Amino acid sequence: MNNRIAVVPGSFDPPTLGHIDVIRRAAALYDRLHVLVVHNPDKEAMLPIAQRLQLLERSIAAAGIGGDIVVASWSMGLLVDYAIDVGAGVLVKGIRSQVDITYENPMAIVNRHLAQVETVFLLTDPAHAMVSSSLVRQVATLGGDIAPFVPAPVAEFLDTGARDI
Ligand code: PNS
Repeated sequence: MNNRIAVVPGSFDPPTLGHIDVIRRAAALYDRLHVLVVHNPDKEAMLPIAQRLQLLERSIAAAGIGGDIVVASWSMGLLVDYAIDVGAGVLVKGIRSQVDITYENPMAIVNRHLAQVETVFLLTDPAHAMVSSSLVRQVATLGGDIAPFVPAPVAEFLDTGARDI
C-alpha cells in the first residue's frame, strides 16, 4: 500500500464547505485522493448516492481544487477493502471537536487493525467548525438558507427544490 495515496471517506449528504476544505488540504498532501461516498446505515439519507457524487464533482471543480482526484462510491463492504483495492494506505478525516474525536477514534483503531490502514486527522478550519451535513439537512428541509454552509453547486441544487427526488 502507498502512503502517497489517500481516501477521504464520508456520507457527504450533502457535501459541505467543511468537506471541501478538508479535500483541498488533503489534495495538497497526497499524490492521489479518492473522495469516497460511503452509505452510512446509521443515518437516514437525504440524497441518493449518485446525486452526492455529482455534487461532489461539481463542488471540487468549483473550488478549483487541482490534482489527481477520484470521486467514487463504495457499498461493497469494508472501507478498508476499497483502500486496499486502490492501493491507498491512508484515510483522511476532518475533526471539528472532541465529539468527532470520540466518534472517529474507534474507527481509526479498527481500520488499522483490519488492514494496517492509517487514519490522518485534519483539524477543521474554525470557519467551518459548526458546519455538519446533518445540520444542513435540517435547515434545508425546514426551508432555511443553507448557502453559508455549502458549496455553491450544492446550494443551487437544494434551492431549486431538486432535493424532492
Ligand atoms: O460522513 P460520515 O457519515 O461520518 O462517514 C462515516 C463513514 C461512512 C466513513 C463510516 O461509517 C465508515 O467508515 N463506514 C464504512 C464501513 C466500515 O468499514 N466499517 C468498519 C470500520 S469503521
